[in-house]
Amino acid sequence: MQIDKAAIEDNGHILRVSMGGADLRFHDVWLRDNAQDPATRDPGNGQRLITLAALPEDCSLCDAKVDGAQVQVTFAADEKQVVFDAAWLVQYCYDRDQDHTKGRLPVHTQAWDGGLSPAVPTADLSAMQRNRAALRDWLTALRGYGFAKVTGLRTESGGLFDVVDLFGYVRETNYGRHFEVRTEVNPINLAYTGLGLQAHTDNPYRDPQPTVQVLACLENSAAGGENMVVDGFAAAQRLRDEDADGFELLSKYCARFSYTGSAGVSLHSRRPMIELSPDGELQAIRFNARSAAPLVDVPFDMMTAYYAAYRRLSAIIDDPAMEVRFKLAPGEAFVVDNTRVLHARKGYSGAGTRWLQGCYADRDGILSTLSALEAEI
Ligand code: FE2
Repeated sequence: MQIDKAAIEDNGHILRVSMGGADLRFHDVWLRDNAQDPATRDPGNGQRLITLAALPEDCSLCDAKVDGAQVQVTFAADEKQVVFDAAWLVQYCYDRDQDHTKGRLPVHTQAWDGGLSPAVPTADLSAMQRNRAALRDWLTALRGYGFAKVTGLRTESGGLFDVVDLFGYVRETNYGRHFEVRTEVNPINLAYTGLGLQAHTDNPYRDPQPTVQVLACLENSAAGGENMVVDGFAAAQRLRDEDADGFELLSKYCARFSYTGSAGVSLHSRRPMIELSPDGELQAIRFNARSAAPLVDVPFDMMTAYYAAYRRLSAIIDDPAMEVRFKLAPGEAFVVDNTRVLHARKGYSGAGTRWLQGCYADRDGILSTLSALEAEI
């Protein structure tokens, strides 16, 4: 990519670069802070070697020279010269229209509903262990939809860890390195009964909550017990489109979640059900009827309206049109982004056996592994 022209404007505070028929502008202090020279950035690990205190008080520019696909700028205060590549400037350009729509999806994600059912993203474990492109494709689907299935697991205790090994590390909790999901007498958690469970995100009472859950099936001959998943981002957007004020309330005020079901454990969090970034992007959904604690952070005058929105979100989540349903066979697992996708199961009968194992991990491992694979392949 060739740079056609570079000009300094606004008394040296702005660099305007023209290329491919477009003008991109950059601020002097931004360019100085992001200088790519070896005195500013370690050439080996890419980390910044200086702090802001090392920048001149006045970072204004006194010169800009184009050399093909590069521009060399000179800072007036100390005559430091720094070169920027055109491709780098295009990659990091911020002089553009930015979408600040409230409740918008994060980049690389797609909202879905029950219509996705025939196309549940699925891949074979050993294929992903052998083939980097197969792993990349599965991780891409997991990033995009927030859930994906895996087949071909060992049907023995601990087989689910092979799934986590694809992208990251197990997150241990008070439930252990993994937890068993099968009917128990005197269960410490309702998950360990045959009851049906409303779609939920796991462990919203932790802060930070586990961001990935893996559930693997070892036995499943009981009647019922199908799993289903619901896109929490799609549910939040549907609420926003039906009732913008209700959406606002669930994102503006914190809910509370608690778990005190085991001796020596007292977990509590204060977080919104719909979490947005400061500029309005969907960040996380927390929804779990079993562990929702009394709401005490909603202003008195807003409580009726808050509950109306909460009930509407709950009804949207329960709408069968939103759900993707499947029954796991022994040797199959599913992975959910626990910050986004709610999971549920239908009730199941005592006849036959149903034995699942679950564990937690973190989504930074998914995003990091995928990003590295994209660069590698
Ligand atoms: Fe769960």
